[in-house]
This record gives sequence, structure tokens and C-alpha cells, in this order.
Amino acid sequence: MAQNASVFVRAMTPDDVPAVADIERQCFDSPWSADAFYAELGGNRCARYLVLTCDGRVAAYGGMWLILDQAHVNNIAVAPGYRGCGYGRRLMKALMRVAYRDAGITEITLEVRTTNTPALRLYESLGFAAEGRRKNYYEDGADAYIMWCRDTLGHLIDDA
Ligand SMILES: CC(C)(COP(=O)(O)OP(=O)(O)OC[C@H]1O[C@@H](n2cnc3c(N)ncnc32)[C@H](O)[C@@H]1OP(=O)(O)O)[C@@H](O)C(=O)NCCC(=O)NCCS
Repeated sequence: MAQNASVFVRAMTPDDVPAVADIERQCFDSPWSADAFYAELGGNRCARYLVLTCDGRVAAYGGMWLILDQAHVNNIAVAPGYRGCGYGRRLMKALMRVAYRDAGITEITLEVRTTNTPALRLYESLGFAAEGRRKNYYEDGADAYIMWCRDTLGHLIDDA
């Protein structure tokens, strides 16, 4: 990765979906289809999806639903060649900012595989803590932690 790459976070558009679905397939055993992303962008008023672009290419994405006073992160993924550069953290902070900007939301939850160390470390570094465990949450029978960040306000400033 070039150190002087141009990196931006912006709202996902339908034009981004093929690239997003491609990353999704590289990252997950049971990936969302392109149609699932199109449906979210076109028909779900609670949904907010962001992409992170690096020199104009979609390198990462994340999405959530804003429901009453809580945000639920549905997915976040960084393409394999772009990991370890701070993009996952940057996207999570951007989701927190959008939740606060659009709905005054400061509480965010998500599910994560109990074995997904990179994701667990990322979330813990942003103030998430495991508050429960869902047995057999994933199609392969693996468990998920239910994690919460109960106050995102401390993470809303910097690297937009
Ligand atoms: C989890 C994921 C989004 C992290 O994205 P990333 O851009 O590589 O992470 P960042 O560079 O922003 O790292 C942020 C923090 O995450 C943690 N982290 C990232 N990669 C890690 C690794 N391989 N091992 C341990 N901790 C790791 C660290 O705490 C890191 O902070 P540090 O660099 O100050 O130590 C990325 O690995 C990914 O897309 N994985 C596949 C999809 C996935 O599992 N998504 C989450 C589903 S719940």
C-alpha cells in the first residue's frame, strides 16, 4: 500500500455494490449477495452503509441499522490486501459518527465470532465489551459474542 494513498470514507452507492460483494465473498463463508446490498441501499430507511476508498478503489465497507436509540452493525470488512492499515478502525469510527449525526445514537452493538481475534481486538480498542454469547449463531455452528459500546462520544472526533 502506498503510504501517500488517498483514503476517503463516504456513503455506499449502488455503483459500489459489485466491488463490495467481491470483498464480502473474500471475507466470509456465508457472504451477503449483491442483491442483498442493493436491497439495503434501495429500500431500508434504517440502513446506513459506508465505503472506504483507497486511490479510488473500494477497499473496505461497513453497514448498520439505526433502530430507535441503538445502532446495530451488520457487517464490516477490509479487503485482504488492505488490512492492518487502520482502515477498519477508521470505518468503525465513521459508522459511530453517522449514527450520532443522523439519530443522536451513542450505543452500538454487533455480533462477532468468538474466534475472530482481529475483529475482537478492533472492537475492544474502540470501547466495545462482550455482554453476552449467542450459541450456534453462525451457519457452521460457531458462537458469537454480543458486544456493546455504550458511549461512542469519545470516538467521534478525528480522522473523518
Ligand atoms: C477485522 C477487520 C475489519 C480489521 O480491519 P483492519 O483494517 O485490518 O484493522 P485496523 O488496521 O484498523 O486495526 C485496528 C485494530 O484492530 C486490531 N487488529 C487488526 N488486525 C489484527 C490482527 N491481525 N491481530 C490482532 N489484532 C488485530 C488491533 O487492535 C488494531 O489496532 P492496532 O493496530 O493499534 O494494534 C479485518 O481484519 C477484516 O476485514 N476481517 C475479515 C472480515 C471480518 O472478520 N469482519 C468482522 C466481522 S464481525
